[in-house]
Amino acid sequence: MSSKLFSPFAIRGAAYANRIAVSPMAQYKGDNGSATRWHDQHLGSFAASNPGLVFFESTSVEREGWGSLDCLALHSDEHETAIRQVLGNIRTYSETPFAIQFGHSGRKGSGKTPAGGRGPLPVEEGGWPVWGPSEIAYADGHPTPVAFGDDDLDRVRESYRQAAERVNRLDLTLVELHGAHGYLLHTFMSPLSNQRADAYGGTLKKRTAFVAEIVEIVRRELHDDRVLGIRLNAHDYVGEGTTFEDTIEIVKILQDAGLDYVCVSAGAITNEAKIEQSPGYLVPFASKLKKATNIHAFVTGMIIQPHQAEEVIADGHADMVEIARGFLDDPRWVWHAAEALGVELDFMMQYWMAKPGRWPGARIIRGTVAAE
Ligand SMILES: Cc1cc2nc3c(=O)[nH]c(=O)nc-3n(C[C@H](O)[C@H](O)[C@H](O)COP(=O)(O)O)c2cc1C
Repeated sequence: MSSKLFSPFAIRGAAYANRIAVSPMAQYKGDNGSATRWHDQHLGSFAASNPGLVFFESTSVEREGWGSLDCLALHSDEHETAIRQVLGNIRTYSETPFAIQFGHSGRKGSGKTPAGGRGPLPVEEGGWPVWGPSEIAYADGHPTPVAFGDDDLDRVRESYRQAAERVNRLDLTLVELHGAHGYLLHTFMSPLSNQRADAYGGTLKKRTAFVAEIVEIVRRELHDDRVLGIRLNAHDYVGEGTTFEDTIEIVKILQDAGLDYVCVSAGAITNEAKIEQSPGYLVPFASKLKKATNIHAFVTGMIIQPHQAEEVIADGHADMVEIARGFLDDPRWVWHAAEALGVELDFMMQYWMAKPGRWPGARIIRGTVAAE
């Protein structure tokens, strides 16, 4: 069988060996914003088993945008050096391309880590003021954000620009702006969090204007061969929020600003959002978006089985799948997908003895033959 999931994908100067990406996954293992030894093993173990692309987790472009004290950031030389070190370590055994997600948590920032109990981190416990387009809190009990004035918007623009400048010095092929899950860029686009009366609020076009500027700024700064995408919610999952039709219009605006792809995702803009997950639940949105705008579509959300992923790509619904929990469960997801789809993969020499065709145990584990 000739697999489309395992077919190469080229975009700008980047070339990916297959259509499988390890989705960004916040680890809460940063050291004052810098990547650590944890990231070496976490990202390295995925890179060792041949996905087309591996993402660094959401990485904040400015201090005010941190999600928690343990999140990653890219606004100092130390942060840049730490990412360079992780990539350098992984490069000693893998050529797998890497990407980064630019984050800014906006009004969902200053949080406790999952281990610390989640929820807002009060200022008296080391928290910090959070920011948003308007003074509207994410939910009761969450801090009211400081609404951006003109100078503050300049500060954020410059942070994204500087982060892009740092990416040019790193071995990263792609930048995904985090524009989903209720974080800063999403809060500009949603009427639930943006009630500004200036050029950045009101109509859908005005609510998208700041995000379009960020796309333009990052695109202008990034070297030509680097890919630029954005992660967007399919819609807001709340009655008065953005609809899927709005998302299509947003993508058209961002496409004009220089965007290469959209990753379709889902996450809460308010605590009233009701998101029900089932296998491939975002694929129909990616498919329609791709047809309506002709943009490259990546898709995430419960893509778990090899044949399911194959169908997403072969039927033209998306160009790349971003898989998260499937990789936490099985860091060798790519090997097992290749085996299920009849694709011969190169194994790194260290793991070669476990190649399914060579190792009799593989057939027993998969239940193809019974153990004696
Ligand atoms: C541990 C964990 C951390 C995550 N962190 C991020 C993140 O940093 N940025 C992001 O956009 N999504 C994040 N997500 C969402 C995933 O990237 C993914 O889109 C989502 O889990 C759905 O895909 P899945 O069903 O394959 O897990 C995270 C998910 C998990 C499980």
